[in-house]
Amino acid sequence: MNPPNKYLITSALPYANGPLHIGHLAGAYLSADAFVRYLRLSGKDVAYICGSDEHGAAITIRAMKEGTTPQEIVDRYHEQIRDAFEGIGISFDIYHRTSAPIHHETSQDFFRTLYENGSFTEQETDQFFDVEANQFLADRYIVGTCPKCGYEEAYGDQCENCGSTLSPTELINPTSTISGNTPVIRKTKHWYLPLEKHEDWLRSFILDGSLDGEPHHYVDEWKKHVVGQCKSWLDAGLQPRAITRDLNWGVDVPPEIEGAEGKKLYVWMDAPIGYVSATKQWAADHGKNWEDYWKDPETALVHFIGKDNIVFHCLIFPAILREYGEFNLPINVPANQFVNLEGKKVSTSKGWAVWIHEYLQDFPDRQDELRYYGYKIMPEQRDSDFTWKGYQEAVNNELVNNLANFIHRVLVLTNKYYDGVVPEFDESISINAPQESGLPTWHDSELLDLFDRLHELRTYLKAYDFRNGLKTLMEVSSVGNQILQLNEPWKREKTDPDSVKVVINLGLQYVTALSVVSRIFLPFTSDKLRDMLGLSRIREEGEFVDIMDALSEGKHLLPSGHQINKSEHLFTRVADEDIEKQILKLENSDSSDDHEEGLNGTVETKPEATFDDFSKLDLRTGTIISAEKVKKADKLLKLTVDLGFERRTVVSGIAESYKPDNLIGQDIVLVANLAPRKIRGVESQGMILLAEDEKGNLGFVSPPKGWSKGDVVR
Ligand code: 2FM
Ligand code: ZN
Repeated sequence: MNPPNKYLITSALPYANGPLHIGHLAGAYLSADAFVRYLRLSGKDVAYICGSDEHGAAITIRAMKEGTTPQEIVDRYHEQIRDAFEGIGISFDIYHRTSAPIHHETSQDFFRTLYENGSFTEQETDQFFDVEANQFLADRYIVGTCPKCGYEEAYGDQCENCGSTLSPTELINPTSTISGNTPVIRKTKHWYLPLEKHEDWLRSFILDGSLDGEPHHYVDEWKKHVVGQCKSWLDAGLQPRAITRDLNWGVDVPPEIEGAEGKKLYVWMDAPIGYVSATKQWAADHGKNWEDYWKDPETALVHFIGKDNIVFHCLIFPAILREYGEFNLPINVPANQFVNLEGKKVSTSKGWAVWIHEYLQDFPDRQDELRYYGYKIMPEQRDSDFTWKGYQEAVNNELVNNLANFIHRVLVLTNKYYDGVVPEFDESISINAPQESGLPTWHDSELLDLFDRLHELRTYLKAYDFRNGLKTLMEVSSVGNQILQLNEPWKREKTDPDSVKVVINLGLQYVTALSVVSRIFLPFTSDKLRDMLGLSRIREEGEFVDIMDALSEGKHLLPSGHQINKSEHLFTRVADEDIEKQILKLENSDSSDDHEEGLNGTVETKPEATFDDFSKLDLRTGTIISAEKVKKADKLLKLTVDLGFERRTVVSGIAESYKPDNLIGQDIVLVANLAPRKIRGVESQGMILLAEDEKGNLGFVSPPKGWSKGDVVR
């Protein structure tokens, strides 16, 4: 298995039923985008494919709710999603759509071919039917309680809470999404993909990485949770899967097939074929042959998805591709887990989300800041949490204080001391070395150190480990900062100008390397940086390889005598007010009438916190001694808490559960060392611990009766 030179990379086709949000972005798009940029920078031939998923109940139900047509819904959201992706710098080679004629033709060709191969079975079965709406109920048309986790709003095909794939008859208390009625049972006939016939080869494909007895991919390179989910399906025994529906929106079953009337392809039959039809369109637009990307065994296929799509991409779509014949199967499906938002599940319908189009309006020049934080919290192995405070800290402490600071200092000093001309590098002069290099002085080894770090970055990217890749990028900048800090060129310019030249020259080599590799995660920054360095922008045509070759030969990346331009700040601090506005916006848009935590069965907990994380909190017992409403905020109360040793003002979101007068004398537990935060103009100096039940009722966590104030809780 040689390293491939050609890649077909896909990101899950988002449903065109709502705007793009942070959960999408950090799930299947930022990861793929970094990967394809890295591949292009490594000189590989890549087609990066995506588009809108415009069929299925997700669309028709949205249309029904809005009293409009499915066409209007997909037209609106397709454009909005496409623009949001572009705005945030996701570098698809094509962003296509499944309503396009080429997609309908391609999907029908798949259906026809498999039908003629005898790959399907036909079955008449009992299905739920809504008498009032005169419609069969499959997928999102039917909701009920998930038999696996107890979530009460599981869909007929999938539980969004635990990710299980379901069939409607498994739901407990099924009801129609259209009318809210309990459905009746009627008979209907559909085509099925007999997945059980594929079980043996799928088992060796997933668990051994082999196909037809030949090695296909390295299983160790697949994420454990991906293999684990497939294994539990395989172990449970694969079942026939219906691949048609009784609907009036979607791809028609080819009309010449007997019984096709009124039948559409199941959205999960046509959506992944969308990758193929989009590739066909892209190839036609660019004078390429699409089959080189799908059928050449030397081409590597990688699907980037969220965890709820694993089974479709690892088992069902591969079975379809194999039945068709000649198509490659994925060498990896690096699925991510989910990103929560401020501790709660992101939800389009409940308005609990950071919408990318709104973010781009609110922060028009901060694309890379969101990208950066998205990579930092990427849910690669487990669910993670987006918090606005975390975003602010990442920008201010990391992008501003580390990356922008280092680059700005180097470029400003180059302009100040040398009129922007890269100074000579005198090899005979040694400078102070960063401690971790283990060297007393440093000049010969510095480029090797840079090479090693970039090599480490490459290793992480190859392993789809974007979080550590980003960390490594920031370490390059940290080392750059150390070079400056240890040698203090601003102090030594008068007394030791020759060594200052070496320091600045070295700094510029680090900055130049960053201008190339930042392109992977922070493409907007890379462009700005190249402009400031007076270098042409990165075209993603093998530049990573070029700098690695140069460094391994001991060559400098930016030659002495090169003229740079003025420096501008690459990142600026995010102010507290900006964050407060976003938090308020979120609180005001939250329309959840139920709360997804606290349901029966499996509950996703927040990402792991270490004991050290926990012990940072200073929890104290206290008593509420005054309470009043906060103006223009229905949910908030302003409280005074007596901790014994001092009094604190705390703003708490309990106004819907408690009347101010009933709170006086209430014993509570306060997080006493939380950074103060202004909420509606009032500085809140701590946070009261509350328990919340599944209906959203709040109750105080309080110390045993009679305990004194100010006691430690641990
Ligand atoms: O889960 C979803 O949002 C689906 N629209 C993903 C489809 S991925 C692919 F198969 F098209
Ligand atoms: Zn469930």
